[in-house]
Amino acid sequence: MRIGLAGVGRIGAFHAATLSALPAVDTVVATDADPVLTEKVATELGLETAPDAATLLDSGIDGVVIATATPGHAPLLRAALEAGVPVFCEKPVAATLAETIELAHLAESTDVPVHVGFQRRFDPGHRRAREAVAAGELGTVHAVRSQTHDQAPPHAAYIPTSGGIFRDCAVHDVDGIRFVTGREVVTVYATGENVGAPFFREAGDVDTAVAVLTLDDGTLATVTATRYSGTGYDVRMEVMGEHAVLGVGFDDSLALVSAEPGADFPRGTPHLVFMDRFRTAYTAELAAFCEVAAGHLASPCTVRDALEAFRVAEACELSRAERRPVDMAEIATVEG
Ligand SMILES: NC(=O)c1ccc[n+]([C@@H]2O[C@H](COP(=O)([O-])OP(=O)(O)OC[C@H]3O[C@@H](n4cnc5c(N)ncnc54)[C@H](O)[C@@H]3O)[C@@H](O)[C@H]2O)c1
Repeated sequence: MRIGLAGVGRIGAFHAATLSALPAVDTVVATDADPVLTEKVATELGLETAPDAATLLDSGIDGVVIATATPGHAPLLRAALEAGVPVFCEKPVAATLAETIELAHLAESTDVPVHVGFQRRFDPGHRRAREAVAAGELGTVHAVRSQTHDQAPPHAAYIPTSGGIFRDCAVHDVDGIRFVTGREVVTVYATGENVGAPFFREAGDVDTAVAVLTLDDGTLATVTATRYSGTGYDVRMEVMGEHAVLGVGFDDSLALVSAEPGADFPRGTPHLVFMDRFRTAYTAELAAFCEVAAGHLASPCTVRDALEAFRVAEACELSRAERRPVDMAEIATVEG
């Protein structure tokens, strides 16, 4: 297959390497708003290049991976749908709720598949948890805890375009909770603080946040997100059930230090960045995208899924701003 790639920054360059190693992919054609970066990554990985996204979409590709900075997602997604090119789009599909709703409408009005990049759906631990919940192995699930803790903040220029910690980080926890429990969020209560670098506050953002989500079956879920987690990149989930508690991410690379005397867990090198923690998941999701683009698999994460997670992130921002619980009915959605 011939796969296009728009954006070769942090995640885009990583996706370029992953795509190049997939048996289904013969050629990766890359473009980036920064032509020097395009050439650098293309030379390192042996990619073809295109001067811009329009040329990329017109270069006989079987699918396109959108990994630009967030403001580039919506226009590229629209252009790809118009050109009839199957799309893998990094989260979020758009920077605003209104645009995400419009894109959900658009995607649902075409036959062109769109797969949104919530990679936890391909993480073995999250998949095992989903299977255990669906099979009733845990009995009634009473509580879920999910967290996304970056070891250190991304570069300062990333923050103003990121959409804020809920839309950028905690949105993965929301998707993970929806994926694992199969339930929808009905109310949200969230808060956040900035005691780290001032560039968060300057962008209207926080560096650490907590949300309490009530699911439609009464399960309570908590989400924490922080840009400062000194030991490493710490993503995990606990699913507390009547019969058992399942822990996702509890292997020897778990990024914490045990306070228990004599404990020798975790014994390995902690994950430092998302590429370490989710290497297997990123490979599996891009392999799945090739299947989607070839017409062999339905999208494992649709624009509607991305919209639902985005709506919850939006509710978290509103709750933080207005210091009150927010009912999901207050948040706009696709009509009908
Ligand atoms: N799924 C995940 O785990 C995950 C992880 C990191 C980032 N992301 C998402 O991926 C996106 C990129 O994040 P990043 O950390 O790689 O950012 P980055 O700033 O490192 O890279 C973005 C790149 O996009 C390029 N770019 C910007 N606008 C463009 C356009 N219109 N056309 C072509 N290129 C353009 C920039 O020149 C830059 O090289 C963000 O939307 C982010 O939310 C997802």
